[in-house]
Amino acid sequence: MDFGPLFRNEELGPDDYLYGRKGPWPQPSPDHPHGEAYAVIHLPFVEQLDWWFHVGLRYVVSLGLTPWMFLKAFFMGGLKPVSDQKFHEILTNTMMSKFITPKLDEEDYENFKELMKQGESYVITDLQAVRTVKAYKGLYVCPTKTLMREVGHEEYEVVGIYVFKTKALLTPEDGQAWELAKYFVLQGGAICATLVVHPNLHFPLDSINAITKTALPKKHILFKLLKPHLRFTLMLENAVLTFKTSVIRNKKWMSYAPYPGAYEGLRDLLVEGFRGIPGNESYPPYHFPLTPPKVYGKYGDFQNAYYEVIYSFVKSVLKNVKSDDVHVLNWADYIAHHVPGFPKGKDIFKGDTFYQCITSYIWSVTIGHSIDHYNYAQQSVQEIPVRLRQSPPKKGDAMISRKNLVTTIDQMKYLMCMKMFFGPTNVTRLIDCDYDFTGDHNKEYKKIVTEFKSQLLELEKKLDSKGLKYIPLNEIAASIQY
Ligand SMILES: [Fe+2]
Repeated sequence: MDFGPLFRNEELGPDDYLYGRKGPWPQPSPDHPHGEAYAVIHLPFVEQLDWWFHVGLRYVVSLGLTPWMFLKAFFMGGLKPVSDQKFHEILTNTMMSKFITPKLDEEDYENFKELMKQGESYVITDLQAVRTVKAYKGLYVCPTKTLMREVGHEEYEVVGIYVFKTKALLTPEDGQAWELAKYFVLQGGAICATLVVHPNLHFPLDSINAITKTALPKKHILFKLLKPHLRFTLMLENAVLTFKTSVIRNKKWMSYAPYPGAYEGLRDLLVEGFRGIPGNESYPPYHFPLTPPKVYGKYGDFQNAYYEVIYSFVKSVLKNVKSDDVHVLNWADYIAHHVPGFPKGKDIFKGDTFYQCITSYIWSVTIGHSIDHYNYAQQSVQEIPVRLRQSPPKKGDAMISRKNLVTTIDQMKYLMCMKMFFGPTNVTRLIDCDYDFTGDHNKEYKKIVTEFKSQLLELEKKLDSKGLKYIPLNEIAASIQY
């Protein structure tokens, strides 16, 4: 495709850019400048308004549900038993399968040595990251690791749980102590899922969002391709990171803030997700992925399948972008400075890197992000607690009644949070994306978009026929908007 003289010389003025080349732009995160991804906190008024109207207002209105959620929590009556089968299902076949890793540390081999046999393969679900949480009085959190034996290709069987605070190695033979340990694992999973791993689909990508809006001309084909996938996100992130009413502040008066500890410790979870945990192979530092990060089991297979379809769409749309395109070269250089692992201008056109970068971004903010929310919202607040009111177990310990492991207020906050933040609330959807591919090649691009959407529909049918049904296509959002 010939972009014409507009892109051959630098005769572009501020009007050729979305906000007159005046930002938004990434900056060090005000709360954790050295520990968190660059943040984008100064936003054009029009973006703020768009978010408040379509997203923010819903949060305010949802607060009215508090009395209803209190009653719902009251009549629910505490936690439900989680069978070993169900525990296994949650760890290996939900978004928590993201924690499965074959990378056992020296310490893991030592802690689990009684349960490990020669010639067997093992993986662990590593929830050590919750160590930063400073629990409020009467509430408990505990790092755990769960050992699983490989019994087939990416199929596992739970063997035992190591509870860090009591240094206890527990197995299903341990009765009530085992039952309590399972809740601590699930609680750790809930906290790490929402505040350690999932945030890497949000915050590091904000720089790409902002730089695309500021550094790419509106008429550039890359800008047009990315635009529907940028909406609502920056203001949402700003609200989470800087609003005094953010769920992560976790004040006691907040009817929607379910976490068990104080803000500082919770905020450190974001740092662990982005900077990694030194010496722990399960939590490496963030590095922009060109392809979806490895997730063991069917959850990973499902989301990877979408990558292929998005890749073919991206390649068709961008096939005529030349390797000396000064806008893309500068765009990549700006981003590389702000996003660890993002290729610089000199590398972006090597092999398939350019297509992979764009596919990775679109994949992350659509399927990669939506599936986590959709899947988490399907889990029961009575099986996966966020708060626990008994200290972590050692061998021989009894468990208090499930009704008393959580209070009505604990569960009310959790239900409110599920409704407001964890559960998906789509404003714009991937399948409805309208790309503004106007110009000489309009017809050709329309055909590419039609083909993309029919491939998405076909893929959904194909995954359905294989029994892979993690999220319906029409529930996948066009951008990060919750
Ligand atoms: Fe999210």
